Amino acid sequence: MKDVLPSSETMDNSGTTRRGFYMVAIYGLWGIITAALGLPALVYLFVPPKARRQNEWVEAGDISQLAPGAPVEMSFRRNRVDGWKVTSEKTSAWVVKMPNDQIVAYSPACTHLGCPYHWEQTKNEFICPCHNSVFALDGKVVDGPAPRPLDRFETKIEGKQLLLGPVRQSDQTA
Ligand code: FES
Repeated sequence: MKDVLPSSETMDNSGTTRRGFYMVAIYGLWGIITAALGLPALVYLFVPPKARRQNEWVEAGDISQLAPGAPVEMSFRRNRVDGWKVTSEKTSAWVVKMPNDQIVAYSPACTHLGCPYHWEQTKNEFICPCHNSVFALDGKVVDGPAPRPLDRFETKIEGKQLLLGPVRQSDQTA
């Protein structure tokens, strides 16, 4: 008696059945769809947010005209990262040319509760109007409730331009 295969089980020359071909195609398609849907989820779960963008160096301004002992508030834009959301925001730094020509840039937020402070040229001090914290030119606390000196940006100088990196919290000794 002669064996007859059903048409769906017909074997080609290489021995592959039509059913086998469909199974490979279905599983292949399923794999592609799973990868397309799963890959973004894996990236979201395991790749850290773009925090590194916060560490970008930004140009704060020209420091060639800075006079020693006369702080200047420089405004600039920098990226702020909140999870996966990156927004550009305007911020500032108090830039000081120290008597020894070193350039220092302070975060504009008071170390007590974050109010913006200002430089009082007549008193030679930074004064925070919220609760009257007073800081010296070198950022140290002179008076008031501020628990620590002013926080500083990391700084880099390229030509006349001051570049600012992340803010480093000052130590706790006021
Ligand atoms: S926020 Fe500056 S003294 Fe309180």
